Amino acid sequence: MKKIIQIGMAGLGTVGGGTYAVLKRNSDELYARTGSRLEVKTVACRNVERARELVDASVEVTTDVMALAADPQIDIVVEVMGGIEPAKSLVLAAIAAGKHVVTANKALLAIHGNEIFTAAAQKGVVVAYEAAVAGGIPIIKTLREGLAANRIEWVVGIINGTSNFILTTMREKGLSFEQALSQAQQLGYAEADPTFDIEGVDAAHKITLLSALAFHTPVNFKAAYIEGISKLDAEDIGYAEEFGYRIKLLGITKRKQKGIELRVHPALVPKRRLVANVEGVMNAVVVKGDAVGTTLYHGRGAGAEPTASAVVADLVDIVRLMNGERADPAVSTIAPEADDSFWLPMSETVSSYYMRIGVVDKPGVLADVARIFADNDISIETMVQKETAPGEDSTEIVILTHSAVEGNVQQAVKAIEALQTVHGSVVVLRKEELC
Ligand code: NDP
Ligand code: HSE
Repeated sequence: MKKIIQIGMAGLGTVGGGTYAVLKRNSDELYARTGSRLEVKTVACRNVERARELVDASVEVTTDVMALAADPQIDIVVEVMGGIEPAKSLVLAAIAAGKHVVTANKALLAIHGNEIFTAAAQKGVVVAYEAAVAGGIPIIKTLREGLAANRIEWVVGIINGTSNFILTTMREKGLSFEQALSQAQQLGYAEADPTFDIEGVDAAHKITLLSALAFHTPVNFKAAYIEGISKLDAEDIGYAEEFGYRIKLLGITKRKQKGIELRVHPALVPKRRLVANVEGVMNAVVVKGDAVGTTLYHGRGAGAEPTASAVVADLVDIVRLMNGERADPAVSTIAPEADDSFWLPMSETVSSYYMRIGVVDKPGVLADVARIFADNDISIETMVQKETAPGEDSTEIVILTHSAVEGNVQQAVKAIEALQTVHGSVVVLRKEELC
């Protein structure tokens, strides 16, 4: 058993700082769990002066990120810098040097995961990434270990805290998207450039990783359909409420007979589902397994110590492995036979839908819309026509549909928008019943 495990940490920002603090504060706890002392030997970052103020004098601080991989005394490299480079070069160099790696970098793994996991498998080292998905929620461990008996049917999650905060604020305070985003920025939730958060890219990185793990496929970010919340109208949040639904930005991956669905978009979720009541910056992931049914995991998806909780848990797993305590849990299982036909194009996915259509209030309009629905094999579940305001000749029809094929819905929307009696674009949101 190795009594002292030496860690090289790239990045000492939000997650790095939290990880350093948890490792230090819970040192005895971690010793009791592993039989080893986990010590940070070196920290690499850009601002050395700031780092020096944060870490003990015994810790080396460097701006040379690659030095962590080259140092023979370092057992495990923790990559909490973010971005693609130099993170990718560091991770690959650490693997090549026979070091285990822990990373919180979902963007890196979603895009370069196959290369990284393959290199790690060839070298017999672990690349652990619990912190990359849903922060402190141990969802990777859950899929890999707790639910290992199951054939996973689907995984659906609120996995971007910033966008969930924005949606909650729009609904609770009746604010516009721009106003809610500005609040998120003031409170420090959203990034200075929040594009990845609000356009669904961050959630897509995360659901891509969960999908690969759940369905034993390579990581295929380019198969993900991505739609964010920036175009969402407060009016639709209000209508959804009237119908008994909440709008959430969901990461969705489902195993279907024809292939795998992988998508991120705002969706209506029945208010009675627990996940519809996950508010603010909190995250939640629902997993359906054939044996266990649906299970829900809820917690903080970001922040210094919640994310550090996941980073340090990965470190503990690796130390236990190094100490020969148990077999290497598979970090990823890559099906070499997987080709692009494994993933369904968005046009072949199946959802139910919410649509809001602006129409001229005159006879025959509803019949035209209903005919287009029927022609495209779309069945209506509920339909409401809003009262026409005095002096106005136009109104809105809001429709909820039963399950339909996305391609048919898009075709129907085009035909509806071409009607003379319809004005503007049809608002289309997907609906997930999660049962
Ligand atoms: P921060 O921006 O707070 O910290 C980044 C750190 O990395 C800083 O110490 C920075 O150094 C260092 N760094 C960045 N680029 C370089 C470089 N080229 N060379 C040397 N050092 C560099 O990021 P976070 O802690 O928020 O995020 C880190 C990772 O964790 C990202 O992959 C992120 O997606 C992921 N993550 C973050 C969560 C969160 O709540 N923040 C939650 C889950 C995952 P310096 O400060 O000196 O410039
Ligand atoms: N920007 C991310 C979020 C951080 O808002 O969820 C955690 O990955």
